[in-house]
Amino acid sequence: MGPVPGRVLLLDDHSDLAADVSEILTRELGVKVTVAGDAATGLPLAGAQCFDVVLVDVRLPDASGLELIAPLKQACPRCEVVLLTGNASVESVIEALHAGACGFVLKSFRPEQLVKTVAQALEKAALRREREVYERRYHALVNAADVLVVGLRPGGSVAFFNPKLAELLGVDPAWAVGKPFVASWVDAVDARRFESALASVLDGEAVQELEIGMPDAEGAVRRVRWHLSGARESGAGGIDHVYGIGVDVTARRALERRAASAEALNAMAPLALGLAHEIRNPLNAAVLELHLLARGIERLEQSEAREPMRRRVHVVESEIRRLERLLTEFLELARPRPPEHEALELGRVIAEVVELESQATKRSGVQIEQHLESGARVVGDQAKLKQVVLNLVVNALDAMPEGGRLDLRLGVEADDVVLRVADTGKGIDPRILAEVFDPFFTTKPAGTGLGLAIVRRIVDQHGGRVSLASTPGEGTTAVVRLPCAPSPESAARPS
Ligand SMILES: Nc1ncnc2c1ncn2[C@@H]1O[C@H](COP(=O)(O)OP(=O)(O)OP(=O)(O)O)[C@@H](O)[C@H]1O
Ligand SMILES: [Mg+2]
Repeated sequence: MGPVPGRVLLLDDHSDLAADVSEILTRELGVKVTVAGDAATGLPLAGAQCFDVVLVDVRLPDASGLELIAPLKQACPRCEVVLLTGNASVESVIEALHAGACGFVLKSFRPEQLVKTVAQALEKAALRREREVYERRYHALVNAADVLVVGLRPGGSVAFFNPKLAELLGVDPAWAVGKPFVASWVDAVDARRFESALASVLDGEAVQELEIGMPDAEGAVRRVRWHLSGARESGAGGIDHVYGIGVDVTARRALERRAASAEALNAMAPLALGLAHEIRNPLNAAVLELHLLARGIERLEQSEAREPMRRRVHVVESEIRRLERLLTEFLELARPRPPEHEALELGRVIAEVVELESQATKRSGVQIEQHLESGARVVGDQAKLKQVVLNLVVNALDAMPEGGRLDLRLGVEADDVVLRVADTGKGIDPRILAEVFDPFFTTKPAGTGLGLAIVRRIVDQHGGRVSLASTPGEGTTAVVRLPCAPSPESAARPS
């Protein structure tokens, strides 16, 4: 053990002895020794400076060395305390060790004994300091890293979460400790895959990588890619811990999904055009024939036969209208017309939609509340933006067949015109929330699943953003943000 440079505080009232000890330690260990003759001067010194080792005489004029150990450790938490004593009984040794001393030097000692004991204490202090540095680095890394970290015990219970993972899952990291990881936080469909990856790592197989779903604090399923590896924390034996480093790939997957659906729609364009052409003509012919049929019915002699026939005509008419809508929406998605660019008041567009849907709202007992700030102007395509509002309002009404409240809010926030369409309907299951913008995704028996896909496409074309937030059982809010029309005069002079 070579000499360890460090700082030593010596508390002893025998000045001759203190001078000898100082000289020996300075010479043999290259340490800097500070001497104090009593506790009253020694304790404040220990608090003010950072010592590695404090050598304390058991009998000081104003205190007992044994009683000083605790206050010394409190004043200078990183120091090691060594006692200088004339006679050490087994009891006093035990008491001193309990109080936190790390060693003894019996008076009268040989210089080698003194040097050896102090060198050991210095080494211990240095190791403690080194360990603290590592721990700080480790904590900084685990806490600051932009990745998710989990430690798992062989049974699959949580040993620790880093703050980022705890935040994602909406739990307190300390509370998570000991909970079964898979049962508590892994999406049921991925549970078996995760468990078998865990088992392989515990069996000593190399790193396992897998992507799983994890319900977050709001219940929405996040996609997380995990990298699992085994560790031996106890040093001996087999693998006794599994560490997981995870990356939240939800946003990436959503982008991939959007790219894939855009590609699918583009691929469908020629087919859609051909189909539209083929269907439109017979459809028009059918509508024409239907009108003639309706007229014929009105001219019928037997008036009692008219009513059931009118009803049938009405059914066929509404089915044809549905087909037409499907065709128009499909075309809008597959081969969108480039948007017009005119400055317009979004409030007017909303008022038109409310007017259009007034019958439907009355029928289902829905109350409409409107908070429409005037002067919320955007540059865009009136017909397309009307389609956006209409699709959102229709979805809201569909969600409230037994009545409820539809809240329409329009305002300006920073450089955006913001429209919020909120309903008090059944809400959206968080597990499907990521899919509702996909074309053809629908939960309605007669839905096309194109409504929100069109909303997103049009909002994208206008340089805006659209999002949905929902609480099952409470309702859904759609938020559309569009850039404000860049016209200072018209903004200052609301029409
Ligand atoms: N306000 C809402 N409340 C509850 N669920 C909604 C709401 N808006 C959308 N959804 C869900 O999102 C799905 C997709 O909506 P989208 O408008 O794209 O299609 P759709 O309404 O099913 O059919 P379409 O609009 O073509 O008639 C819906 O089937 C529904 O499950
Ligand atoms: Mg819809």
